Amino acid sequence: MRRIPVSLGARSYDIVIGDGIIGKLGDAVRDLGLGSKQMIVTSQTVWPLYGKTVKDSLTTSGFDVCITLTSDDEEAKSFETLTTIFDKLLENDFERNSGIVAVGGGVVGDIAGFAAATFMRGIRFVQVPTTLLAQVDSSIGGKTGVNHPNAKNLIGAFHQPRLVWTDVGTLSTIPERELRSGLAEVVKYSVIADPELFRLLSENVRSFSNISGDTLIETISRCCSIKARIVEQDEREEGIRSILNYGHTVGHALESLTSYAQYTHGEAIAIGMTAAARISLEIDATDRETVQLQENVIRVAGLPTRMHQPIDPVEIVQQLNKDKKRRAGRVRWVLPRRIGEVFLTEDVPPEVVLRVLQGMIAS
Ligand code: NAD
Ligand code: GLY
Repeated sequence: MRRIPVSLGARSYDIVIGDGIIGKLGDAVRDLGLGSKQMIVTSQTVWPLYGKTVKDSLTTSGFDVCITLTSDDEEAKSFETLTTIFDKLLENDFERNSGIVAVGGGVVGDIAGFAAATFMRGIRFVQVPTTLLAQVDSSIGGKTGVNHPNAKNLIGAFHQPRLVWTDVGTLSTIPERELRSGLAEVVKYSVIADPELFRLLSENVRSFSNISGDTLIETISRCCSIKARIVEQDEREEGIRSILNYGHTVGHALESLTSYAQYTHGEAIAIGMTAAARISLEIDATDRETVQLQENVIRVAGLPTRMHQPIDPVEIVQQLNKDKKRRAGRVRWVLPRRIGEVFLTEDVPPEVVLRVLQGMIAS
């Protein structure tokens, strides 16, 4: 079992990573001294797989537990789900020392976290991530929120969990495509900060779904450590935290232009990272080998490096200008210099972006 601290003063917490630990959550929550009432927020798919085990564990450890089930897709990150959670918290007389336990992927974590951030001006919450994406990324760092009908993740708050309890055993039931989606975030971490992780990934990515508990724990731990160190430096994304958005500039534009139906988050990010590396090459900030190394890993991971749905690159460039990560009206790019190092720039001419994207349409 690994324990990675996230040091944020009064908001510090641990990420605990192990294999087969989900049924031990109750004691860990009790050790934190959280209030006796806990609400589990989970999805309809995850509830029978892991939600019940979490409930039994919390109940055995003396907690009074109620459940809110969400739907299984991005639609769950809505004001409607939020209202359902608030209604249930009130019906069950939740108070300021009560808590929420999110059991599931990033969707459940984001909505449960935002409910915790806003109910009675903030109650405590615990993340039990059950997708690879949630285990390496979304459960850590305190970004919570819901989607506005016009834009994803637009309404949110920074609210750190009290504990992230990661059981890599839960990945055994994950659909292959969701696992690959999470792998894109692992590639992201390796390219932004960890050449050794990139090497580990290059060796294991082909058969990632078969890798053993220890290698999985090692891979996930490296990602979590990178994210923890970055969040510690810049909790509210005023500077360096932006590098975690590597691949997300073009990725978000693609997701949005295809109404979140064509690509998983990770697939869109994979295309976004490919575009970022090619842009970096175009402006002479990286070399061809770096671009090719990254493309190879992405391809072997079973992720796309090209846009299979022919989207007009002009529309993508227009969409970039609506991104909430713009600064003073300019698109902020995270570009690789080499494997393990990226830089931030607002100086990428739109014609370079257009040329790169035109070269990425699958024939
Ligand atoms: P998801 O939460 O939609 O989960 C994918 C699917 O897998 C769902 O149907 C879910 O019910 C199912 N599932 C979850 N765990 C399972 C398991 N162990 N076995 C079988 N099925 C399981 O998708 P995701 O990729 O985890 O999260 C995507 C969301 O995360 C997006 O909304 C994105 O905006 C958000 N996100 C947030 C942050 C952050 O920092 N807060 C970072 C990255 C992404
Ligand atoms: N997923 C990007 C971040 O947490 O900042």
